[in-house]
Amino acid sequence: MTATATKVLSKGQKQAADVTALLRARNPLIWIVTREEARVEGFIAEAAAAASYVPHFWDVSAGVTKLNGDKDNKFANQEDPGAVLNTVRAAADRTSSKERGVWVLRDLPIWLQGQAGAAPTRALRNLARYLPGVERDSAQAVVIITPDSNIPAELAGHVTVIDWSLPDRTEIAAVLDAALNSLPEDIRAKAAPNGTRDAAIDAAVGLTGEEAASCFAKSLVQTRTIDPAVVSSEKRRVIVREKVLEWHDPIPGGLDAVGGLDNLKGWLVARKNAFSPKARAYGLPAPKGAALVGISGCGKSLTAKAVATAWGVPLLRLDLGALKDKFVGGSEGNIRKAFKVIEAIGRCVVWIDEIEKAMAGSTGGASDGGVSADALGAVLSWMQDRTGEAFVIATANDISSLPPELLRKGRFDDIFFVDLPNATERKGVFAAALKAHGRSEITVDFDMLSDATNGFTGAEIAELVPTALFAGFEDDAREITTEDLLAAAKEVVPLSKSSATKIASLREWGQANARPATSSKTEARGATGRKLDLEAA
Ligand SMILES: Nc1ncnc2c1ncn2[C@@H]1O[C@H](COP(=O)(O)OP(=O)(O)O)[C@@H](O)[C@H]1O
Ligand SMILES: [Mg+2]
Repeated sequence: MTATATKVLSKGQKQAADVTALLRARNPLIWIVTREEARVEGFIAEAAAAASYVPHFWDVSAGVTKLNGDKDNKFANQEDPGAVLNTVRAAADRTSSKERGVWVLRDLPIWLQGQAGAAPTRALRNLARYLPGVERDSAQAVVIITPDSNIPAELAGHVTVIDWSLPDRTEIAAVLDAALNSLPEDIRAKAAPNGTRDAAIDAAVGLTGEEAASCFAKSLVQTRTIDPAVVSSEKRRVIVREKVLEWHDPIPGGLDAVGGLDNLKGWLVARKNAFSPKARAYGLPAPKGAALVGISGCGKSLTAKAVATAWGVPLLRLDLGALKDKFVGGSEGNIRKAFKVIEAIGRCVVWIDEIEKAMAGSTGGASDGGVSADALGAVLSWMQDRTGEAFVIATANDISSLPPELLRKGRFDDIFFVDLPNATERKGVFAAALKAHGRSEITVDFDMLSDATNGFTGAEIAELVPTALFAGFEDDAREITTEDLLAAAKEVVPLSKSSATKIASLREWGQANARPATSSKTEARGATGRKLDLEAA
C-alpha cells in the first residue's frame, strides 16, 4: 500500500469545510464574526464551490459583485438592502436556469438597526423560514460577515453563528512565503536566514492575515530580513491597540524573583516541560493553568508574571473589569474577542489578576461593578472547553465573592493557597527585594530580619528595602544596614494584625480547598506569635 500524502489543513480551511457542511444541511443564514472580511470571503467562496453554490457578494456601494470584484450585470440596481433580499428570494423561486447561490452581504447588521431596520430584518426572517424548504437545485443561503457578535434578538433563532479564527501557523506561513516570494531573488536568498522562519511565524501568530503581512513587510523594509524581534514588537503594538488584552514585559529573573513558595514553584517548573511542543507531539494534554488564592501581597501576581519569563512565552493580562468598563454593553463580545486572540497566539501565559473583583455581582442581581452573568458564562465555558495552549493563571485575594463554579474541576489543573511567608521564606523575600534594588552584595542579618517581620506579607517586607534606602540616602548616601531595615519594620502595622479575622477565614478555606504553595508549614505564624496549627481540620 502506498502512503497517502496527508495535507495539513489550516484552521481556516477546516472552518470553510464546516461552512460547506452547513450549506449542505440547508442552513439559510450564517453569521460570521470576524474583522477579516477579505480573508474570510475567500474561504466562503471555497466553501460555496465545494457545495456547488455560486458565491455572490453584495454591499451598499457596489451592489452585487462576482468573486473577482466585478459588477454582476445579471443583478443591476441592487444597492438597496431590501432589493438584494428580494433578489435572493427570486433566485430561490426561479423555475428555469436554476442555480444555487450563497449571498455574502457586507455590513448588513447596519441595515437591521432601529425602526428603519424593521423591513430588512423582517425580509431576512422570512427568507430564513422560506429558504430551507426550497428545492435543492435552486437552494440559496445568506452569509453575513461582520465584526459584530451581537445578533439581533429577532434573528437569534434563525442564524448559525461562527466565530472565525485568526490565521493559524499554517496560514501565517503562507503569508510569510507570499511576502518572501515578492522579493527580488538576491534579497530573498538572505531574507530568512536559518532558524528565523519558525521564530517569525511564531511571532506573528495572533495577528490577522493583513497585520501579519504588514509586520513582515515592515521588517523587510527596515532590516531587509524577516526579523522575529521586529515582528513581535509589531504584534505587541497591535495587541495593545486592540485593547482587549494588556501586554506585559517579562520580569527579569523569572521565578528567582519570587522568594519562598517552593511547592508552587516546583509545580510550575514541572509544567514547563508539559507545555513544550515536544509534549504536544507526544500527545500530552496542554496544562490549563492554576488558580492562586491567598493573602494579599504574598507573591501571587509576582509569580504569574515570573512564570512567563521562566517559560519564555508572552505574558498577556486579561482584565475582565476593564473590558467591561471600557465597553459597557458589549463586554461579552469583547471578552470573546480577547479569547480569539489568546487562542491564536498559542503558547502564552494569560494572567487574570484579582479575578474576584471582576466576578463580583455576576451571580447576584445587584450591579456592583462586576462583569455580567453572560460574560461570566463566556469566561467559564472558555476555561472549560478551550483547546489552545494558553496557560491561565488567575489570582484571588478573597474567595467570598468568587462564584464557586469558577474553581470547579476542569477549569484549572490545580488551586494553590498562598499564605504569609514563614521564617525561611521571609529571608527569601528580603534577598529578592534587595536584589531587585541592586543590593545583592551587601551583608545583612537575615535571621534578625526574619524574626522582626513575623506576620508580615511579602509586600510589606519588600517595601522595607526602599524605605531603608531612603533613610540611607538622606544620611549622606551611605549603604543601608540591618538596623535601617529593622527600624523600617518597626513602623509597620502588618495586615495580619489589622485584618486578622479575614486572614483566618481565608486560611480556613485554603486548608480545605487548595494545595499549600509552601511545603514547610511548621513555621507559619500569625503576627501575634501564636503557632497556628495549619494541619488541623
Ligand atoms: N514571595 C515573594 N517574593 C518576593 N517578593 C514578594 C513576594 N511576595 C510579595 N513580594 C513583593 O510584594 C509585591 C506585591 O506582591 P504581589 O505578587 O503583587 O502580591 P499578591 O499576592 O497580592 O498578588 C511584589 O511586587 C514584591 O515586591
Ligand atoms: Mg496581586
